[in-house]
Amino acid sequence: MSHDSAVDALDRVDRLRDAALQAIESAGDTKELEAARVRYAGRKSELSRVMSFMGKLPPVERPRLGNAVNAAKDRIEGALRARGEALGARELENRLMAERLDVTLPGTAFPRGCEHPLLKTVRDILAIFEQMGYAIHEGPEVEWDRYNFELLNIPPDHPARDMQDTFYLTEDMLLRTQTSPNQLRVMHAHPPPIRVVVPGFVYRNEAEDASHGDQFYQIEGLCVDTDISLGDLKGTLTEVAHRFFGPDRRTRFRPSYFPFTEPSAEMDIECVVCKGAGCRSCGYEGWLELGGSGMVHPHVLVNGGYDPEKVSGFAFGIGPDRYTMMKYGITDLRLFRENDLRFLRQFV
Ligand code: DAH
Repeated sequence: MSHDSAVDALDRVDRLRDAALQAIESAGDTKELEAARVRYAGRKSELSRVMSFMGKLPPVERPRLGNAVNAAKDRIEGALRARGEALGARELENRLMAERLDVTLPGTAFPRGCEHPLLKTVRDILAIFEQMGYAIHEGPEVEWDRYNFELLNIPPDHPARDMQDTFYLTEDMLLRTQTSPNQLRVMHAHPPPIRVVVPGFVYRNEAEDASHGDQFYQIEGLCVDTDISLGDLKGTLTEVAHRFFGPDRRTRFRPSYFPFTEPSAEMDIECVVCKGAGCRSCGYEGWLELGGSGMVHPHVLVNGGYDPEKVSGFAFGIGPDRYTMMKYGITDLRLFRENDLRFLRQFV
């Protein structure tokens, strides 16, 4: 390898450096600048290839070429940095101009949810009972036959079972048909006196129509103490109804029958739709049933481990679905389950 070729190589370095500086200066944006960097300063650039040529030079010529290449690389890198900063600043400026924030534009509205009307009713009713000194408990939706029926004075062949057919998981395990089994669960867990409400879903094997569903809410209530009377029962449920519906809505009690209470009664409320005159919603009665109640049967107190000689009590089963219909004038239970926002939005 001759001296001449060393001079050639030095010339090439100069030419490459000048071409690189020229390309960098004329790069119009960061993309073009990046292309220039790859071409003139990248690992596969011509300048790098000149370096590999070094081994073919006489040793005395090598330092000169090495120094020239390094100097060229330094110049190129400096120019790249300077041009990069200038272009970056300009592009940022352009973006800020183009994307300027307009604080007068209307914001993005987030839709606001609301409680489902049934859940709202359950919470409103529970709040009223809490104000009256009741505790809130919960029990399982999958229940033993024993708790759902037998301990409530409903043996296997009792006709009361016919009205509460349900979904069985095994021979003796079922989806509870009522929240009443919690009367026993609470008594088994706590000695008297007791004042408790138990909300939750119950299930029935039922054909669905405007006033029947196969899944619905109940709120069970149990109050056991010394000297509890039917008057306490009537006073309590009437007060709850007045607080929930307003003091002007009329209620009435009718004698009824439940295997686990004696005597038993059902509470009705004056129909909100016809104000007592009779219409389709109330079956032309003028009144609508809100739930069952009664004095706890001595058998049930015994099954709960309580002594009926020492304590007495009342129990009730509230139907929040009915309460909701009668508060807001809703005539079809199925609306609660259709998930139609036009309906649900009215309860905000
Ligand atoms: N569990 C009854 C039902 O679902 C309602 C009921 C009636 C509950 C009387 C009670 C009660 O606690 O005393 O039909």
